[in-house]
Amino acid sequence: MSKLIGPFKEIITLASTSEKGALGDSKLDILKNGGVIIDGENILQVDDFDRLKSEADELIRVEGDHVLMPGLIDCHTHLVWGGTRARDYTLRMSGESYELILEQGGGIFDSVTKTRGASFEELKEGLMRRANRHLKDGVTTIEVKSGYGLDLENEIKILEVIKNSKLDVKADLISTCLAAHVCPKEFDDKQEFLRYLESELLPQLLAKDLTRRVDIFVEPSAFPMEIAKEYMLAAKNLGFDLTVHADQFHTGGSKIAVELGAKSADHLEASTDNEVELLAKSETVAVALPGASLGLGMNFTPARKLLDAGASLAISTDWNPGSGPMGDLLVQASILGIYEKLSTAEILSGITFRAAKALGLNDRGRIAEGMIADMIAFPIGDYQEILYNQGKLKPDMVWKNGNLV
Ligand code: NIG
Ligand code: FE
Repeated sequence: MSKLIGPFKEIITLASTSEKGALGDSKLDILKNGGVIIDGENILQVDDFDRLKSEADELIRVEGDHVLMPGLIDCHTHLVWGGTRARDYTLRMSGESYELILEQGGGIFDSVTKTRGASFEELKEGLMRRANRHLKDGVTTIEVKSGYGLDLENEIKILEVIKNSKLDVKADLISTCLAAHVCPKEFDDKQEFLRYLESELLPQLLAKDLTRRVDIFVEPSAFPMEIAKEYMLAAKNLGFDLTVHADQFHTGGSKIAVELGAKSADHLEASTDNEVELLAKSETVAVALPGASLGLGMNFTPARKLLDAGASLAISTDWNPGSGPMGDLLVQASILGIYEKLSTAEILSGITFRAAKALGLNDRGRIAEGMIADMIAFPIGDYQEILYNQGKLKPDMVWKNGNLV
């Protein structure tokens, strides 16, 4: 049974927009007075609404002016945690540094203690609440990292929570193992901890089918470059896709990401022209995390430079209890855009198909034939209103796999 949905004043299709480099707004590929025919969970046709009327079995009429675009994709979050880090945030506002709080045993370690102490059900409830809020705001695919367990039992618990929640959350959850977030107190030697993860945890993740992706926080205060590279190479050889927390405070992570062919290098607030060049020449997606810049009161990722050099740029929330508690993709993308001087096409590509590329997915993020019917509609007649409202304007209709949710 095919269904025609429309009419839409404008459809931002992004149908053939390039995966890399700077974009002018003509690259939004806007279709005026358009409609979309879907069949099951896929898009069949996108064309003039009046022309499509005779082509579908059923018509779902949209009342009032609307702008349609692909469902949003958040390619970097840490949505499973216990407790809160409100105290950290309060300290940071009065000048304490994120790295110092971590060195003194707070920060990520605080979330580890609280996450280890939380039950499966508590963690699942938190994940579902956050994922459902995201879906309501138009985010139809959400990457979710582990990383507050730091031992076999708790990292597996977190990844099981994500796997189990997939059944109850309508948004797609894509899990990533970030057991290499920081070195837990039980280990004195960082290399020893990474070798332990490599031999004890990674094979179990494959056996239990818990995730296909591995991440690491490359930073002197977390894992220095040399030992990080050895671990990531081992993960790659086991068949995992790679992603890296790179160049947040010091450079180094992006080089490893590019050398190992990682899907993405995320953060990049400290990247210099050298790292920008490296990323631009690669197929590794550069992921800006404006929520972390806002949560830490630090500079943004050099998004303009990355795009001008030819990189693929995605934008993501980094939603986490410490550096990124806000978790609002549209607000953060529009703020990054006004500071970094990005076009609407660059911003919207960064939270749709370019974010899909960061996850190794090519079946979503565009409104085009054959794509999954993940779509969102805003109650406006002009696409420029979306970012003008700085994220406060939310979609009033969200379709996931062709179903209105
Ligand atoms: O992406 N930088 C490392 N990890 C997370 C923050 C985790 C936390 O502060 O709890 C990030 O910002
Ligand atoms: Fe992160």
